Amino acid sequence: MQTGVATGATSGNTAAPANTQTAQRIGVPREIFPGEKRVATVPDVVEKLIKLGFSVAVESGAGLAADLSDDAYRAAGATVVEGAAQLWAGSDMVFKVRPPTPDEVAAMPEGQTLVSFIWPAQNPDLMQQLMAKKATVLAIDALPRTLSRAQKMDALTSQAGVAGYRAVIEAANAFGRFFNGQITAAGKVPPAKVFIAGAGVAGLAAIGTAASLGAIVRANDTRAEVADQVVSLGGEFVKVDYEEEGSGGGGYAKVMSEGFQQAQRAMYAKQAKEVDIIITTALIPGKPAPKLITAEMVKSMKPGSVIVDMAAEQGGNCELTVPGQAVVTHGVTIVGYTDLVSRLSRQSSTLYSTNLFRLTEELCKTKDGIVNVNMEDDAIRGLTVTKDGAITWPAPAPKVVAAPAAAKPAAAPAAKKAHGHGAPSAPMAGNKLAIMFGVAAALFWFVGAHAPEAFLAHFTVFVLACFVGYMVVWNVKPALHTPLMSVTNAISSIIAIGALVQIAPPLMVGAEGRPDDWIRWLAAAGIVLTSINMFGGFAVTQRMLAMFRK
Ligand code: NAI
Repeated sequence: MQTGVATGATSGNTAAPANTQTAQRIGVPREIFPGEKRVATVPDVVEKLIKLGFSVAVESGAGLAADLSDDAYRAAGATVVEGAAQLWAGSDMVFKVRPPTPDEVAAMPEGQTLVSFIWPAQNPDLMQQLMAKKATVLAIDALPRTLSRAQKMDALTSQAGVAGYRAVIEAANAFGRFFNGQITAAGKVPPAKVFIAGAGVAGLAAIGTAASLGAIVRANDTRAEVADQVVSLGGEFVKVDYEEEGSGGGGYAKVMSEGFQQAQRAMYAKQAKEVDIIITTALIPGKPAPKLITAEMVKSMKPGSVIVDMAAEQGGNCELTVPGQAVVTHGVTIVGYTDLVSRLSRQSSTLYSTNLFRLTEELCKTKDGIVNVNMEDDAIRGLTVTKDGAITWPAPAPKVVAAPAAAKPAAAPAAKKAHGHGAPSAPMAGNKLAIMFGVAAALFWFVGAHAPEAFLAHFTVFVLACFVGYMVVWNVKPALHTPLMSVTNAISSIIAIGALVQIAPPLMVGAEGRPDDWIRWLAAAGIVLTSINMFGGFAVTQRMLAMFRK
């Protein structure tokens, strides 16, 4: 069902059929939450929104904290409006970063569309207020993250990535040494050792940043499936010596058993003594942050060490964290800033507004400046938390999800422990392998002795191709499987040779073997299509690999 949303000043308060609506106005107010420096739309994105048919109004001073002047917005085509009240009243759809305050909700015209972080579970009162305003609210934090199509709109990911990066920069700022090892005339400097607790979005960004600065990076997470990602970003995955699967589904963790937590504490205590910097990012949505770093562990760290506790806002992963502050305890600096994203406001605003632009593209496929909140679309349905005077949150689970992680047994038998984690498959027991080889050898002997000669040649090529393919795929890190697929796709364009032979002039194939005209036309079409596959495949591979290069 397609629902036309027409609200606010330009369209009045009643929904009208889409084809009679005029282009809508998107309003961007100044964020009023203390310390919030982000803005929901940057000038570059204003231009793109205008191309989608919308007009854009920005409250005067909205971008100043992110170094974006009113003039920059004007140059991009936006109208700069004085005062929040006028901005809210004159907009059909409002883009915000922080959930609206009661005053902001009061300023909303009835039936307005709002796109913002909302955190519906934590803000039941706000949900009631928005419902009373008959607002159509798309909570960017409610995006179904398992939908691969939704990744371009995933503001939680883009913002956590910025925070992870900034956490390392804060750590480097408070740490009194280099990150990378150096040999200088004045002596040898060992590289800093960084331990990252929790390898979700922020944790992975922190691993990549610390590794690129030259530190030795170790990381731990309760979800064993992230081990390969840690390694591909230049870190070492440190496993807890206790077998228990930590995945709670949807890419999130679950609360671990007491036995696991004890083993984890022992491992963290050992790391605390060895490393110089700890960055904690461990979180299970809707739960208080797990306490992973005890006061004892802090005490055992070397003087001058640094802890950045990214979970400070949810109570902290470290017992001694003071939310919003950097404190020095037992000679260790503990950074509990809760505004890491705002500390890179220009970058985070740019990424956030790109996420909102991608969402707007989904809401306005007709590119006529009219928003359609299509509740049949899984991503849009997931985001929509209030609509037409009703609370529509939580949304039912999306119908299509991107390759869910295979279910693993909750606890693996102790015998499997020695095999470690993250390997593509556990090594087979020796006798099982021997039996398999025996059976395969007998099969080959049988085929060799009885099959016709012509078949044997093809069969040999087939077996060798399977072997080479297996070795290639298994020796490539899982993180690189997507570029591998696209390069393999490009290489498969070798079939172009078949089309070239068909299109060849009579001289080359002999006059009597000259193919019919229609075959040659088909071959020509084949060459065109294969060329797109070939050049496109290599170009896409190149772009994907560029993302992995430092
Ligand atoms: P995420 O959900 O992607 O990652 C959290 C990771 O912690 C998951 O991989 C999970 O498996 C792991 N985890 C959960 N319990 C664990 C345990 N007991 N031991 C080890 N690992 C465990 O979350 P995201 O987006 O990476 O955010 C991480 C933290 O950073 C959150 O607390 C978030 O609120 C915070 N954050 C803080 C900001 C700031 O300014 N301080 C800004 C952005 C995010």
